[in-house]
Amino acid sequence: MAVALIPAAGSGERLGAGRPKALVELGGRPLIAWSLDVLSRVPAIEKIVVALPAHALELPWTPQGAPDVATVPGGATRSESVRSALAAAGEAETVLVHDAARPLLRTQLVEDTLGALAQEGADGAIAAARVTDTVKEAGEDGTVVRTLARSALWAVQTPQVFRRSALEEALNVPDEVLAQATDDAWLLERAGYRVVVVEAPRENIKVTSALDLAVAEALLERRPA
Ligand code: CTP
Ligand code: MG
Repeated sequence: MAVALIPAAGSGERLGAGRPKALVELGGRPLIAWSLDVLSRVPAIEKIVVALPAHALELPWTPQGAPDVATVPGGATRSESVRSALAAAGEAETVLVHDAARPLLRTQLVEDTLGALAQEGADGAIAAARVTDTVKEAGEDGTVVRTLARSALWAVQTPQVFRRSALEEALNVPDEVLAQATDDAWLLERAGYRVVVVEAPRENIKVTSALDLAVAEALLERRPA
């Protein structure tokens, strides 16, 4: 069985809505409601732990027929919020982490990442979409240093699923290291663990700016009922 952790303790500075991003309305519901509902429909997930801002600890949405849902105050960085949520996760051997900021999650992707972890003998399995832009590295002055081979590039998303012992060890590092992590898989990679990508739909976008919120709204409207 698995536990799902939802980091939702960010302040949403770049969205600029004047309140935590997880509480901002999308399609008539708080943003976090979308991922909560999807994760609560996956039979393998027995518990959900949500990291919320310390000043807004009340869950703004209760999913129907939900498994056990707990809340914890988040930390100063995303990884600290994940670490706090993991400490309240109970006994599950498999840990799934999904950002509240990706409300277009579908149950199929959750099943695919959980399935990949079980089948591939890996320590982590992460949702990722093939990169369609050409990606170049440039120096401080804007001069192009190199062009990366696009066929090997993946734009990484959540959910990311891990063997619990590997995630616990990877998170057991100083706060300065945690602050550098833009995802959890990087912490496993630097600890020498094996992480595999699972092809995910590009639709599973991250809401960072007001533009992303408008795109998410449009994508939800296009969904079949
Ligand atoms: N997050 C968290 N704890 C933090 C920072 C972020 O749980 N201290 C969560 C966010 O709530 C979000 C996810 O991590 O679901 C990804 O972070 P991001 O998109 O950067 O959200 P915010 O930090 O809220 O946005 P911003 O960086 O624009 O302030
Ligand atoms: Mg942030």
